[in-house]
Parts: sequence; C-alpha cells; structure tokens
Amino acid sequence: MDTEQNQATVSFKTVGCRLNQAETAIIAGQFKEAGYKVVPFGTPSDVSVIHSCTITANAERKSLQFARSARKQFSAHTVVIAGCAVERGNIDAIKKAGADIVVGQKDKYRLLDLLSSSDREKNTNIYSISTPSIPPLFQTTRALIKIQDGCNFNCAYCIVPSTRGRPTNRALPEILDEVKAVIKNGFKEIVLTGANLGCYKDGSKDLVDLVHALEALPHLHRIRLSSIELTTVETRIVDHMAQSEKLCQYLHIPLQSGSDIILKSMGRRYTTQQYSDLVMYASQKMPDIGIGTDVIVGFPGEEDEHFEDTFNLIEQLPFSNLHVFPYSIRPGTTAATMPGHINNTTKKSRASRLIALGERKKTEFAASFIGKSVSMLVEDVSEDHTAKGWTSEYIQAKFKSLHIQKNDIAQFTPSAIEKNTLTGSN
Ligand code: SF4
Ligand code: F3S
Repeated sequence: MDTEQNQATVSFKTVGCRLNQAETAIIAGQFKEAGYKVVPFGTPSDVSVIHSCTITANAERKSLQFARSARKQFSAHTVVIAGCAVERGNIDAIKKAGADIVVGQKDKYRLLDLLSSSDREKNTNIYSISTPSIPPLFQTTRALIKIQDGCNFNCAYCIVPSTRGRPTNRALPEILDEVKAVIKNGFKEIVLTGANLGCYKDGSKDLVDLVHALEALPHLHRIRLSSIELTTVETRIVDHMAQSEKLCQYLHIPLQSGSDIILKSMGRRYTTQQYSDLVMYASQKMPDIGIGTDVIVGFPGEEDEHFEDTFNLIEQLPFSNLHVFPYSIRPGTTAATMPGHINNTTKKSRASRLIALGERKKTEFAASFIGKSVSMLVEDVSEDHTAKGWTSEYIQAKFKSLHIQKNDIAQFTPSAIEKNTLTGSN
C-alpha cells in the first residue's frame, strides 16, 4: 500500500438517514487513516461497504441491491453490509445478496480488523457509541456530526429502537473535539445528527447547551439541526435559533399524521394542536424559517377522513419541505399486527396528493425569498461559473459569478425560481 498504484481502494454506499451518513464518514476516516484510497461507489474497488437501512421494506431492498451491484457490476473484491438491516437479523437474505462480511452496529467500527480476520460475521444488538479519535471523512461541503444514538419512544411503526437500541450520548467535549477537527479541515457548516436528536444529554447539558458551546468555536459559520421530535423541541431552542447568527433557521419536525386518532394509534406523544402551536410559535418568532416534516400515509386504520385531516393540516401550516412515506410493514413492530391495513393503491393515491401539495408549498416558500438577500454555502461550481448550494433556510439556490469558489459562503439576491431553486446574481 505504499505507492499510488497498489494502494488498496474502498467505496461506500449509504442508504437511509443522516445519522447513517455521519457514521459512514467515521468509518471512511478509519479506512483513510489505514492507507486506503476512498473511491466513488460504482467504480471497481477492493472493498465496498454498503451502510444499510431498514426503515422501510424498500430501503432494505435497495441496500441489498447495492450489494449485488457492488459484486457483479463494479467488481468489488470484498462486499460488506453493515448497520441497521443487519440488526434486523435477515442474515440469510443479506448473505444471498453476496455480502462477504456482515456487521451490526457495534462491529461496523472494527471493519479493518474483520477484513484481516477469518471471523467475518458479527451481529450484535448491543449498541455502544464508538469514540473514534480519527477525524471523519466527508465527501460533501457539510460535515454531519453524530451526537447521540438510539431511541426508546417506540412509535408503533418504527424499527429504529430495535436496530439502534436505547438512547446513548456522546460526551460534549468529544463532540467539540470532533468539530474542531472538521473546522481545521476547512468545513464551515456542520449538521448535528442522532436517532432522536432532541434527547441529547451529557449530565446537565442538553442540546441547547451543546449548540451554545459550538457557536463559540471560531471559523464555524453554520450549525444545522437534523430531524427533531416535537416533544423534544423546547421553546428555548426556538428562542435561541431566532437570535443566533450560526444556528440555521430550519426545523425538520416529523408530523407523521394530521389526525389525532392516528397519532394516538401510532404512539406519537403529541396532539395536532400541540404540533401546530409549536410550528406557529417558531414561524412567528422567525417569519422566514424553513420548516420540514415527514408524513406517513396508509398507516393501519387510516380512513379517508383521517387522511383528509392530514392533508388539511399540512395545507394550513407553513411547511417548506415535505417527505411523504407510504406506510411499510416492519416485522416485529406493534403496527405490523394491527388491524385495518391499507391497500397499496390507496396508499399511492394519498401519497401522490400529498407530494403535489408539498411541491406547491415548497415553491411558494422559495418564491417568498425573491428580492431578499440570502446566504448560500457553495457546494459546487460548474465550468460556466454557476455556483450551487443551499441557503440557511434549506432552499436550493444557484447563481453565476466569476469569482466564486466551492465552500464559500456567499450573499446573493434571488430574482427568480427554477424548479424550486432560487436563481439570480450577486
Ligand atoms: Fe422511531 Fe419514534 Fe424513535 Fe423517531 S421517535 S426513531 S419514529 S421510535
Ligand atoms: Fe434507516 Fe437505521 Fe437510519 S433504519 S433511517 S439507517 S436509523
């Protein structure tokens, strides 16, 4: 491995959430440190790691398909399947997909050892947060930072508590060290991630305290929160966001249903009134805030009127971003055995109505920024000098400038929108 030519190569494919992406970066950092060259997934590599997801049947299917492609199309020598799909325990199907190494949550941080060992199957349900001293390796302009793992909310449809176990937290000083290392590597924006982010605790310190500590770090320009549960969003964090110069004005709070009956049967911990109150509080404090949400359509027992309640609530609230998921049975969850499962045709038609509504709201939100100055972190600059990136409120944006570079934070005033992307010049 001492020359470029015979340097071992590794490729990664991450399926699923931002927490999975944050962890892929940790594992990629380990491989880089060990002398591997990280190559794009889809090119031949010595090792190909599929960081799997099982949140829906489709996510699991996709994970296994990537393993098959890595083996057959992209000629990976060793194929690894890691993470959530392994914890769900369908090891036979995973092996059939062509995986040489199958690792659960805990052992995915020991891949380098396993590659040189004959004991190549590790599957454990006991999760412990690894404390890597090696900086994570990101392929993007924003660094995803894992701050906690696990969840014990046990929503009826959700497999995460059994794939990631009970909540565990990283120590605040350890997070600060990791962020200092990524800032040193030139990153200007970080995204805090976790399975249930708002549950973050280190002793008496919570998420707001962590954000405070991060804001004090020089050369860090933007901090984002990934998806956060309503009952863990205190008004304190909204108030802090309203006056912070670094915490992006964007909240992604899963709604899942706009019917109180369905929310109750899902085991969610809030009512539609509580949800609306918090969203309206945030949007009154920050009139330009971006608010995203997730919705499940076709949960068992969801009648037409329950769906209409969801549609109407989403229409009323100031959402800028909507992710729609047709309900997917996850064996072992409470909802899997509930009566009243909904057929696929109904799920599809409900999903497409909501997707259309979400697109309309996204366009309206983006259009409200025409003529206002926005800041954008440049993720990419094309040959014709078009810079692309995301605004602080999480709207896609692009504009032309001769002097702009990747990773710049630029101000510009959009004059139009093209397919939900703000465009203009600075
Ligand atoms: Fe799953 Fe509910 Fe926990 Fe979110 S809060 S990870 S939906 S159990
Ligand atoms: Fe998927 Fe596991 Fe994340 S199931 S959504 S990768 S927590």
